[in-house]
Amino acid sequence: MSIEIRPATQADLEPILAIAAESPEAPQWQPSGYNPYLSSQTSNPALRRTALIASSQQKILAFAAASLLLITDSAGHENTCQLDSMAVQPEARRQGLATALLHAIRNWAAQNNARHLTLEVRSGNTPAIALYHRLGLRPEGRRPRYYAHPEEDAVILGIPLP
Ligand SMILES: CC(C)(COP(=O)(O)OP(=O)(O)OC[C@H]1O[C@@H](n2cnc3c(N)ncnc32)[C@H](O)[C@@H]1OP(=O)(O)O)[C@@H](O)C(=O)NCCC(=O)NCCS
Repeated sequence: MSIEIRPATQADLEPILAIAAESPEAPQWQPSGYNPYLSSQTSNPALRRTALIASSQQKILAFAAASLLLITDSAGHENTCQLDSMAVQPEARRQGLATALLHAIRNWAAQNNARHLTLEVRSGNTPAIALYHRLGLRPEGRRPRYYAHPEEDAVILGIPLP
């Protein structure tokens, strides 16, 4: 399958919502929750967001949403990229779409000087954990009973960026 990846715009909101609705494991945001990811400009340079969509033959099949956080710690300032949501249309899974999106998110993070990529996922989300593990992300922590409906721990995974 030939996959095209590009930044999402407001015009892509409808297919993004449809894919999210078919993916209960992904965060179920209100439509307005996507706005900060779809408008690439932000007045706060310490918090940038992006949404990318993956399509094949003009059909939008997957999306990913990520934030760039400027974290100040004792060692100084460090950018961290956080993957906030990702979902692939059920019929289009296991064809490399999420892998392609994650590579694109990593590139976006690296262009923004991020040193670290992190995300949290339900501990029972085996497909997502297998995907992230295959891409080199490793466990960094756990938030007990972080999710509701059903109640479940969050596993925090991460990977340093070059
Ligand atoms: C998790 C998800 C994003 C994976 O998307 P995908 O496009 O199917 O993933 P890829 O095709 O890039 O998979 C790459 C590798 O990840 C692993 N993987 C992906 N899905 C898997 C599954 N269901 N079971 C086991 N391993 C899986 C495999 O190693 C796979 O390689 P392979 O197909 O050669 O065996 C997709 O299943 C999905 O949208 N799930 C619902 C939403 C969700 O859970 N989002 C993540 C939390 S926010």
